[in-house]
Amino acid sequence: MSMEYKFPEGFWWGSATSATQIEGAANEGGKGENIWDHWFQTEPNRFFENVGPETTSDFYHWYKTDIQLMKEIGHNSFRMSISWSRLIPGGRGEVNQEAVSFYNRVIDELIANDIEPFVNLFHFDMPLALQKEGGWENREVTDAFEVYAQEAFRLFGDRVKKWFTFNEPIVPVEGGYLYDFHYPNVVDGKRAAQVAYHTMIAHAKAVRAFRKSQAKDGTVGIILNLTPSYPRSQHPADLKAARIADLFFNRSFLDPAVLGYYPQELAELLREHGQLPETKQSDKALLESGKVDMLGVNYYQPRRVKAKEHMPNLHGPFMPDWFFDNYEMPGRKMNPYRGWEIYEKGMYDIMMNLKKNYHNIPSFISENGMGVQDEARFAVDGEIQDDYRIDFIQEHLKWLHQAIEEGCNAKGYHLWTFMDNWSWMNAYKNRYGFLSVDLDTQERTMKKSAHWFSVVSKNNGF
Ligand code: BG6
Repeated sequence: MSMEYKFPEGFWWGSATSATQIEGAANEGGKGENIWDHWFQTEPNRFFENVGPETTSDFYHWYKTDIQLMKEIGHNSFRMSISWSRLIPGGRGEVNQEAVSFYNRVIDELIANDIEPFVNLFHFDMPLALQKEGGWENREVTDAFEVYAQEAFRLFGDRVKKWFTFNEPIVPVEGGYLYDFHYPNVVDGKRAAQVAYHTMIAHAKAVRAFRKSQAKDGTVGIILNLTPSYPRSQHPADLKAARIADLFFNRSFLDPAVLGYYPQELAELLREHGQLPETKQSDKALLESGKVDMLGVNYYQPRRVKAKEHMPNLHGPFMPDWFFDNYEMPGRKMNPYRGWEIYEKGMYDIMMNLKKNYHNIPSFISENGMGVQDEARFAVDGEIQDDYRIDFIQEHLKWLHQAIEEGCNAKGYHLWTFMDNWSWMNAYKNRYGFLSVDLDTQERTMKKSAHWFSVVSKNNGF
C-alpha cells in the first residue's frame, strides 16, 4: 500500500477519556461524592433522558476487556483521568486503598499490553466536600489539589510518565460560573475569573509537586480546548472581536500554561470592568514555575465571531460576550447532532500558532472526535458503518500532517473516545466511540472506524 500521509516514528495513536465518564461504580469501591453525583441527585432532569453518572460504561469492572480491545485496535497510548473523589473521597485527608488498587490494576494492565498510560488529574469532577468549601473560588482548595497531585505522583509515578494537571480548565469556568451548564450553576463574571485564576494556581502547585516527585523524569502538561477565533471579515471591528474572543477563550489558559504569565490585554480588560480576581504577590513566581513540558490540544470546532450587533446590557452580568457576537458563517459544515462546526484546517492553524507564538512546545492532539446521535441506524450486520467518523478523523489528520511537514512539534493523535461514554449533560445522547456500548448489557462492539484505525496505527499513516 502506498502511503500519502506517513507520521513521524513513535507517533502516539490512541484515545482519551475521563474517570467520571466511563468508570461508573460511583457508589462503589469507597468512592466519595463529586459534584456530578450530587447534581444528578438534585436535578436529574438536567441530564439527557435522566441518565446520570452512577453506571456509565462500567470501566470499573470491564477494564481488562477494554484494554484488550484497545490493544486490538492499535492503541499505543491511552489517556485516562483519576477521579479525585475516588482516590481521596473527602477531597483532602485519607487515601482510599480500593482506589489505589483499582488504578494500579488499570495502569499495570495498560503497560502489560504496550499501551502507555497518560494520566490526567482533573476532568471537571470536583469532590463534593471541596465544592461545599467553595470549590475553585476558595484558594485553600488549590492546596488540597497539590496534596492530591503529590499522592498521585507518589502512588503511580514510578510507572506513569505522562502527567496532565487539568483537562479543559476553562470548561468548568464557562459551565459552572458563566453559562449554567455545570454545577454549581453560578452566573457571575468576577467569580468566574476567580475560579479560572485559582485553577492556574492549582495547576502551578501541581507542577511544583511534580518536579519534586519520582515522576520527574517524565513530563507534565495540561490539556486545553483551543478554539481558533476567526473574524467574519477583515473589518477592524471584526478583527477586534476575534482578538478579544481569543484572549478570553484561548490565551486565558494557554499563555500562563506555556509562557508562565497572563496576557496584559486580558488583565486590563478585566480591570476596566471591575472583574479582576484576587491575587497574591508571590503568584507571579508560582505561575512562572508552572510552565508545562507538554501541551495536549483538544480540538472540535472553530469559533467564528463578528463585532457586536447591539450594545450589551451593562446592568446584566459581565460576560466575555460583551465584546463579540458569534458568527454563523453561511455554508459552514456542521455536525448537526452536537451543533458544532466542522473545520478541519483549524487543527493546522492551532499547530502553526503554537509553533510561531509558543516556542513550538511539544504537543499532541489529545481530543478530536465526532458525536453522533442514534448511531444504531447505521448498523449493517451488527456493525455501525461510521464512515462519517473515518472521514472526520482522516481530514483532520491530513491537516495535522501538513503542520508536521511545516515543522510543528505534534507527537500524536488521540480520538475522543475509545468507547461510547457518558457526556455530562448530554449523557449518552451523542456517541463518540470507536466501539459502541449497549447500555443494557454493557456489551462492546467495534464500529467500522475501529478496524480502520487499527490499520492506520499499524502503518503509522494512511
Ligand atoms: C471535551 C471534554 O470537551 O469534549 C469531554 O474533554 C467531552 O469530557 C468531549 O465529553 C465531547 O463533548 P460533549 O459535550 O459532546 O461530551
